[in-house]
Amino acid sequence: MINIGLIGYGTVGSGVYERLIETKEQIETLLGSQIRIASVLVKDKQKKRIVETDAMVTSDWHEFCQAAEFDIIFEAIGGVEPAFTYTSELLKKGVPVITANKKLVAEKGNVLEEMAKEQSTYYGYEAAVAGGIPIINALKGTLMTTSITRVAGILNGTTNYILTEMIDNHRAFSDVLLDAQERGYAESDPSDDIDGFDAWYKIRILSRLCFGEWPNVLDIPRVGITELEDWHVEIGERFGFKIKLMAEAVQEDKKIIGRVTPAFLTQTEALANVQGVLNAVVLQGDAIDQLLFVGPGAGKKATANSMVEDFLYHERSKDTTRRSILNNEKLSASSIVHELM
Ligand code: NDP
Ligand code: HSE
Repeated sequence: MINIGLIGYGTVGSGVYERLIETKEQIETLLGSQIRIASVLVKDKQKKRIVETDAMVTSDWHEFCQAAEFDIIFEAIGGVEPAFTYTSELLKKGVPVITANKKLVAEKGNVLEEMAKEQSTYYGYEAAVAGGIPIINALKGTLMTTSITRVAGILNGTTNYILTEMIDNHRAFSDVLLDAQERGYAESDPSDDIDGFDAWYKIRILSRLCFGEWPNVLDIPRVGITELEDWHVEIGERFGFKIKLMAEAVQEDKKIIGRVTPAFLTQTEALANVQGVLNAVVLQGDAIDQLLFVGPGAGKKATANSMVEDFLYHERSKDTTRRSILNNEKLSASSIVHELM
């Protein structure tokens, strides 16, 4: 039996719950074991919510922890605290944690990854960048030796949705922002989206994976879409440009520099046609020339799917390593140690 805990039951957390129920049979077949959602941690226990299984719903961390010997935790509460404290406690006990919390990964990801490594467990954050696009595990699992020189893209679904609706459908900013909140795209504090912080966290995480280190905070300046004025939109319309909140980082002479800023794109550029809640990630490098990933950047279903897939990615990598070792495949001792970490 695989015991599952959910920390957070808002847009994403309830999406993970629904996705686990929807794909239960497939997951159980893949893993060869039954799954059970043992408990759910929320802020306000009194809030009305649908939890159809016998999972315990609590707002008490200790009660949550006592519900089961967890095999996996999904964290979707957002912000650094108490998510950092909870995640640290779990990882130190060797419990794998899957998160969608890009702020936590961008600020404490290195500490948490180190904790996971020490306990030979997993800290997975596929859903933290570009929602439904499997970019994190593509970078970690399939582009391991590929040298990347530039990473860029549209990394915030809320602002891309706002810009698309404002420019193409002439809707008012405040009206579309409310709409994005109702659709579950926006952060609980939407200034994270519209002031560019969310895209900034994500480009920092991508930079770390592409270039092997975190960029200095000041080397990636940030301008949000709140800085846009009517005349920007008018110029865009008049001369046929799309406006996108772009995030970009390059490595030059071992230094990572980049930016998050609204930009004019000509309509023939691929990213100009990434509309609505879609996100895009562009990777450039010698061997790959240019790779473009496009997909849903926010929202319940896509994000929850990424978290569940991240869990399966983790389970599958454990299996591959075990199988390779059991079959005495040609893994060097160091690669076995590396894979087991
Ligand atoms: P919501 O605000 O919809 O949900 C947050 C959940 O966390 C709620 O269930 C809330 O409890 C619970 N919670 C908040 N604080 C605490 C606390 N201190 N202790 C226990 N539970 C707490 O947020 P989202 O689901 O939209 O986002 C969650 C995370 O996922 C964030 O990190 C966000 O950045 C990330 N994310 C969101 C995406 C999206 O499209 N929405 C996409 C990708 C990532 P209660 O229900 O009682 O209020
Ligand atoms: N608020 C975020 C966005 C959620 O709109 O992109 C996905 O990370």
